[in-house]
Amino acid sequence: MTYQIKDLEDYKRVYKESIDNPDEFWADQASTFKWIKKWEKVKECDFQGPEIKWFIGGKLNITENCLDRHLDESGDKIALLWEPNNPDQEHQSYTYRELFTEVCQCANALKANGIVKGDRVILYMPMVPELAIAVLACARIGAVHSVVFAGFSAQALADRINDAKAKMVICSDINNRGNKTIPVKKVVDDAMELSCPTIETVIVYRNSPEEINWDYRINKWWHHELDGQSPTCDPEPMDSEDMLFILYTSGSTGKPKGVVHTCGGYMVYTSFSFKNVFQYKPGDIYWCTADIGWITGHSYIVYGPLLSGATTMMFEGVPTYPDAGRFWEICEKHKVNQFYTAPTAIRALMAKGNDWPAKYDLSSIKVLGTVGEPINEEAWNWYNEKIGKGKAPIVDTWWQTETGGIMLTPLPGITDTKPCYASYPLPGIVPVLVDSDGNLVEGNDVEGLLCIDQPWPSMIRTTYGDHDRCKQVYFSMFEGKYFTGDGARRDKDGRIRVIGRVDDVINVSGHRMGTAEVENAINEHPNVIESAVVGFPHDIKGQGIFAYIITDQKQKDHSEFYDEIKAVVSKEIGPIAKPDEIMVVSGLPKTRSGKIMRRILRKIAANDASNLGDISTLLNPEIVEEIKTSKGIIN
Ligand code: WTA
Repeated sequence: MTYQIKDLEDYKRVYKESIDNPDEFWADQASTFKWIKKWEKVKECDFQGPEIKWFIGGKLNITENCLDRHLDESGDKIALLWEPNNPDQEHQSYTYRELFTEVCQCANALKANGIVKGDRVILYMPMVPELAIAVLACARIGAVHSVVFAGFSAQALADRINDAKAKMVICSDINNRGNKTIPVKKVVDDAMELSCPTIETVIVYRNSPEEINWDYRINKWWHHELDGQSPTCDPEPMDSEDMLFILYTSGSTGKPKGVVHTCGGYMVYTSFSFKNVFQYKPGDIYWCTADIGWITGHSYIVYGPLLSGATTMMFEGVPTYPDAGRFWEICEKHKVNQFYTAPTAIRALMAKGNDWPAKYDLSSIKVLGTVGEPINEEAWNWYNEKIGKGKAPIVDTWWQTETGGIMLTPLPGITDTKPCYASYPLPGIVPVLVDSDGNLVEGNDVEGLLCIDQPWPSMIRTTYGDHDRCKQVYFSMFEGKYFTGDGARRDKDGRIRVIGRVDDVINVSGHRMGTAEVENAINEHPNVIESAVVGFPHDIKGQGIFAYIITDQKQKDHSEFYDEIKAVVSKEIGPIAKPDEIMVVSGLPKTRSGKIMRRILRKIAANDASNLGDISTLLNPEIVEEIKTSKGIIN
């Protein structure tokens, strides 16, 4: 098992060791796993290429380390707990042995359907155990999984399928979320209609007795395919640098990009970070509320916990169904020890009042975590007082799809915590701040752009099918450094606070969205001439989406048009990308070279028209006054 830091002195010692002798440090961590063949060299990392390689020459299978390795000693221990959407339905649990068997049967079913090492398989599933099983089954046979969040639209799904040139989709018939039933298979059918020529098979997990549309040429039932499959399946030997998965995420330009993670480094880092950040102890019940459609679910529901032999819980539902006490009811019921969620959920539940958490016994909770967006001080304090009762340290974990694992965080009971601060780097991580010219911003009580200076095992290897994009976005901005896209400040004692994105990515309820992506969707409406999308402060979601639109529609009442805009965005991307506010404008503020001045639009969307800067150099300065007036800002 990877090393677990014990106290502050130990953290300082381990951190220093990891920076002074990174190869030795990571070799020590890696040697705690089962390798089919040991690596020959720890790393070769060139940020220019970029060419990032860890545990070179090593062969392994990550599922052998997630499952087989635990069977002798803890085969009967619960690996996966599942809490259904409907609180009246029984929860389910899988021991390590049971999970192993399910994964092997699913892996054999994939093989029987012609999936071989390197093939891409899209998982478009609700939060049912079969999603985790399918993820691991792909990894077992060396197929590359790409989980697509089941809230994305048919168009968004088709785009990802086609970018990955996937051979198979695994989905469910429906998805239960709160009191809604989402027709998952119907979305897959619609994606197929849009044309996904590489798909040969769609495997459907049955989640409801209702009849669904069936295409006998390519549709197959999950239970039919798994039935009778052998309960063992030899793990495919994978090179350390073979692809483990692709996960699509939004950037500031163009379509979402497929972030590629590979087997060896990802395994070592997710396990190491899980054990340390959550201070997981044998017997603990760990619950991360993320969806496996996002990186948090990959690294800290599935891989990190299972690699560490933990009991990890999956929840099918939403925080407010059947009521705003659901999270706390589940914590009480399963005696959850580590609870990891997003600031958005905390704010939404805080808004429902203190009575909900007060009804439940939360004394089992030892560690609270947050991830995905900056947490505001009020929400941090509420979480600390009402959920942790001042006794459970909060780990505000900063990281990204691209980093694979948690990078900055307090360590519970080991380092101090401070509201809004992700604080300290994990071992092996060297965060630096730079100014816009790339000069290091040194000392304390300063702000800058957050970069990472040294390679770490679970870092992005490429963007699928477009290596140059990976180079441009992350490695070309500041030579020799990985650029995160975030701005940060370092306080007088050296703790880091991540403030937010400095590029055109917005973070809505912890979901990353490219403004260009939303604009492209809006522009699909035939009456839209031009649009500009910006984020604005939102009490619950952190950021909301504000869309400025130029239209050729002449009528005064735009309410119908606004509904159509929301519908077109839902269709192109999914309901999570629907604008919260839309404003029809007659023009957009532009520079003389024709670039939209988003800075101004962001300020107006936030109802803050002070310090707009010098607007006289704009091509059309008069438009600023007009937009301000229609937004009702008077100054
Ligand atoms: C933001 C999620 C402040 C940040 C794991 C980052 C955060 C983006 C935090 C990545 C945090 C994530 N404090 N901001 N603790 N965690 N972010 O790829 O802007 O979905 O760049 O990965 O979320 O989002 P992603």
